[in-house]
Amino acid sequence: MSLPIKVALIGLGRMGQVAARSLLKEPSMKLVLVASRSGGQKVGQDIGDILELPAKGLIVRGCDELPQLLSVKRPEIVIDFTTPEASLVNLKLAAKSGSHLIVGTTGYTRFQTEALLSIARMYNVSLAMAPNLSIGINMLINSAKKLAGLLSGFDVEVIEEHHRHKKDAPSGTAIRIAKSVAEEIGVNPDRELIFGRHGHKTNKGKEIAIHAIRGGGTIGMHKIVFISENERLEIKHESLNRNAFTDCLKKVIEYLHTHKPGNYTVEEILGLAQPVRTYIVAEDVS
Ligand SMILES: NC(=O)c1ccc[n+]([C@@H]2O[C@H](COP(=O)([O-])OP(=O)(O)OC[C@H]3O[C@@H](n4cnc5c(N)ncnc54)[C@H](OP(=O)(O)O)[C@@H]3O)[C@@H](O)[C@H]2O)c1
Repeated sequence: MSLPIKVALIGLGRMGQVAARSLLKEPSMKLVLVASRSGGQKVGQDIGDILELPAKGLIVRGCDELPQLLSVKRPEIVIDFTTPEASLVNLKLAAKSGSHLIVGTTGYTRFQTEALLSIARMYNVSLAMAPNLSIGINMLINSAKKLAGLLSGFDVEVIEEHHRHKKDAPSGTAIRIAKSVAEEIGVNPDRELIFGRHGHKTNKGKEIAIHAIRGGGTIGMHKIVFISENERLEIKHESLNRNAFTDCLKKVIEYLHTHKPGNYTVEEILGLAQPVRTYIVAEDVS
């Protein structure tokens, strides 16, 4: 039997805790390092105590200790669920130590995404930007692209709803849905994606607006609507609990572990999109 994949997890908020609980139960993976905000209350506690489980002998460390810890624990995969600013710093350290990167954190700007991609390429480690760690959401994206190609003349709008604490709006997933459809129907996502309809009262056809709702404890809802003069079609996805994300996360971990370094999307990893891109490194060039 092969050895468990060594995984590090950074960020132990709502999402990080669900991921930790799931990884601790997975025999094919071993959580070798958990880290959270330096100086935060979780640092120094056993992960079991945080999750209300029996002690696991794995103590939460501060992110300021990452350079030393990464070189000792040598995780094969590092997953981040923090903030874009923190994750850029954390994942640069992880790439430098040779770990493949999974970015669960959302709200990255294009500049931050490009910076992380160059870092991953420079150290020849895999990067999975994963703002949508859910099998259902990826199915929604896939179906929405197909429908968009068929429903010519329909207006398209994306609506999302999340809990009141979510820091970014609109969600990374809503942007991903809109961009995927935009590419399909020849809309320029840089010019024709609209965030809310303030100042854009009418739908001129060649534009996609994204609307965000924030409130209460909604885990995550995404809806894409296609509307003509005569009919309306919508596809809706709702996460019923955060475990929706962990099955997908484990698939991403396994994939990065078994594939050549590259820049992968969750859609590609789930087999819903082609092609899979690997970096061209010197030894690959014949
Ligand atoms: N990819 C997906 O499918 C998916 C699904 C859900 C959520 N998310 C995203 O995942 C991210 C986290 O979400 P969440 O709901 O878990 O948020 P959260 O509950 O606010 O947790 C954020 C975590 O990051 C830690 N943190 C903050 N600043 C840090 C820093 N400078 N260095 C290290 N750790 C730091 C926090 O530490 P303290 O606890 O000490 O404050 C906390 O543990 C968000 O971007 C969210 O949108 C993604």
